[in-house]
Amino acid sequence: MPILQNLLLFLPPSLLTLFFYLYLFLWKKRSKPTLHLPPGRQGLPFLGETFSYLKPHPATTIGQFMQDHITRYGKIYRSNLFGDPTIVSADAGLNRFILQNEGRLFECSYPKSIGGILGKWSMLVLVGEMHQSMRMISLNFMSSARLRSILLPEIERQTLMAISSWKQDVAFSAQDEAKKFTFNLMAKNIMSMEPGEMETEKLRKEYITFMKGVVSAPLNLPGTPYSKALKSRSNILRVIEKKMEGRRHQRNEEKEEEDDLLGWALKQSSLSKEQILDLLLSLLFAGHETSSMALALTIFFLGSCPKAVQQLREEHLIIAGKKLEKGESVLNWEDYKQMEFSQCVINETLRLGNVVRFVHRKAIQDVHYGGYDIPCGWKVLPVFAAVHLDSELYNEPHQFNPWRWQQKSSSGMAVNNNFMPYGGGSRLCAGSELAKLELAVFLHHLVIKFRWELIQSDCAYAFPFVDFPKGLPIKVHAIT
Ligand code: HEM
Ligand SMILES: *[C@@H]1O[C@H](CO)[C@@H](O)[C@H](O)[C@H]1NC(C)=O
Repeated sequence: MPILQNLLLFLPPSLLTLFFYLYLFLWKKRSKPTLHLPPGRQGLPFLGETFSYLKPHPATTIGQFMQDHITRYGKIYRSNLFGDPTIVSADAGLNRFILQNEGRLFECSYPKSIGGILGKWSMLVLVGEMHQSMRMISLNFMSSARLRSILLPEIERQTLMAISSWKQDVAFSAQDEAKKFTFNLMAKNIMSMEPGEMETEKLRKEYITFMKGVVSAPLNLPGTPYSKALKSRSNILRVIEKKMEGRRHQRNEEKEEEDDLLGWALKQSSLSKEQILDLLLSLLFAGHETSSMALALTIFFLGSCPKAVQQLREEHLIIAGKKLEKGESVLNWEDYKQMEFSQCVINETLRLGNVVRFVHRKAIQDVHYGGYDIPCGWKVLPVFAAVHLDSELYNEPHQFNPWRWQQKSSSGMAVNNNFMPYGGGSRLCAGSELAKLELAVFLHHLVIKFRWELIQSDCAYAFPFVDFPKGLPIKVHAIT
């Protein structure tokens, strides 16, 4: 992004002025005077207000830009972001309306650069029937039967592998550990790759470069993160492709087939090789980046809330105690269902930390909502974070308070349809059940085996992708 900014600085001022007027003219022409658009402003030519919108801020806040705009214009305002005229919504009702009218009034519309990097068959980019069929494959793959019988034991196995490598009294990055854990889990589920093996580690390193490109400016010039990421993309695809070919051989030799996503996708004869590659890559992305941040945020919030840790530990010790009595050694679905307070902690972490802060949509018809017009073709950004941190909807929204999820009937929390950490409508996160399971099982072993402390003040920032700049360093002490 700084490159873009610099370019602008070096343009002769006269040229800039010319651009500016041209731009104002086009903007005026575009917005018909009879429309009742939400209030707002368009900002700089071309760039609009994109830089201010993307300015990093603590993840538990909505940031200065959002704050200022809501104060000045209200919860629905107009801006110019990512090169398009845009309606930004911090309004719970409009956000729901947008998500529930996917394919009718609105449509998923991520910036072109995302498609370039995740692939044109990625689930994040596809719309309509093709999206539906890719979605079905993902949902079947994470069905509740598979969650119980295959994913739960695998999550527990990998949790134990991860935390058994932790050394006491030596600081390490909890964020890196969380990323490694969720990456290994996805690599196993998708392609049966084993954690710790050289091939898996190599893919993980490649993936880190890839991620840096996904979140950077889409400048395909030599040496930029974006161009490095495109190279990583093809390296990653080559690994997946090699796996695919291995499977074909395996099948010819009539060996037992691996029960992973790759195996499933290969059985869908309607999918081309290119489509399978993009599907696998986008699932690796969707399933890894989000749940690792959720896990790191949980460790972070709990690190300064001993009362919640205490209550969690009690919950999990009771579960572990019952298992010991029955002589069982691995967690099963009944155990998972008893992790009730853990679910409160998970919800509260997602409400306050907002791993996915907003999604990209566009209007595919002229839409009328709450007295405002949203013209066909305009971008629309439902900002979940702004709803989750709204003091009109949550008491003391900046406090980490898992108990707020226990007060079911009285405050109407049980029918809280303003809480949308996983999006909604026909694009509701396909992996939400898997994510919850990962978090709860990890928490189970974490609170039983360890106490931990945050050893440097680090804070999650929204860049707008959420990240701990110092990697969330912690120290652990085994509980004896
Ligand atoms: C706490 C962790 C997670 C959060 C907060 C999260 C959040 C989201 C959100 C907000 C969306 C909607 C995007 C949009 O509407 O444009 C989404 C979609 C998706 N997520 Fe997740 N996610 C999480 C974990 C996972 C996991 C573990 C998987 C497993 C593979 C996964 C797979 C997907 C897929 C495939 C989609 C696309 C669904 C579609 O387009 O139909 N997610 N996620
Ligand atoms: C957590 O949030 C989900 C919505 O994503 C809701 O269905 C569930 O009841 C909540 N859990 C608790 C314990 O409140």
